[in-house]
Amino acid sequence: MIQDIKQTAAQMREHPDPHESGTPVPRKVIVIVSLALLWAVGYIFMARPNADPALGDNRTKTDLMAQAGGGTADGAQIFGAQCAACHQATGAGLPGVFPPLAGSEWVTGKDTLAANILLHGISGKLTVKGTSYNGAMPAFGEKLDDAQIAAVLSYVRSNFGNSAGKIDAAAVKTAREASKDRKTPWNGDDELDKLK
Ligand code: HEC
Repeated sequence: MIQDIKQTAAQMREHPDPHESGTPVPRKVIVIVSLALLWAVGYIFMARPNADPALGDNRTKTDLMAQAGGGTADGAQIFGAQCAACHQATGAGLPGVFPPLAGSEWVTGKDTLAANILLHGISGKLTVKGTSYNGAMPAFGEKLDDAQIAAVLSYVRSNFGNSAGKIDAAAVKTAREASKDRKTPWNGDDELDKLK
């Protein structure tokens, strides 16, 4: 027997079944999210992404290596980082632009001569192995300490076919003190010939 499905009076009095509807986002959450957004945007401006990077950490690889190695300077590493860009990894230089360190009388000559070249740099005409150069050799007196200059010079003097003796930090220190009033690079042959 099939009865018509009719709502009974009792059913009609019932409230409808509860169902889930879109509930508003709690105010707390809105506040937290907006604060996070504000902070994020503010952070970008505070971090100043367009600021001059040169104002930041100016330590070079050499400085960090020296710190890590407790001050023991590695001549080959310094050469690679500071000199090879110009004088080339082979020490052969670039014809007409960067003079060779291989077989150079400036490198293998007096230890104070080589130290002075690194301490103050060179500008003007310089004759290397019979060829005249007219470039600018940067000064390393501020960038490298005595031990580092001694290490890189010792490396250069005993590589690329050179066989001159090591230079110790004390010799660099002496040259540094003797020329401490100098603020400009050596003027090529004119000045350096006298130090030979
Ligand atoms: C920016 C390029 C540059 C860098 C880096 C550089 N030099 Fe030089 N160097 C030159 C130039 C150019 C000359 C020749 C200067 C001139 O013509 O007056 C020179 C000359 C020299 C000389 C004397 C000439 C010769 O060939 O023997 C020595 C020694 C020397 N440099 C060693 C070094 C060492 C060691 C380093 C690393 C600590 C170094 N240089 C880094 C460019 C550079």
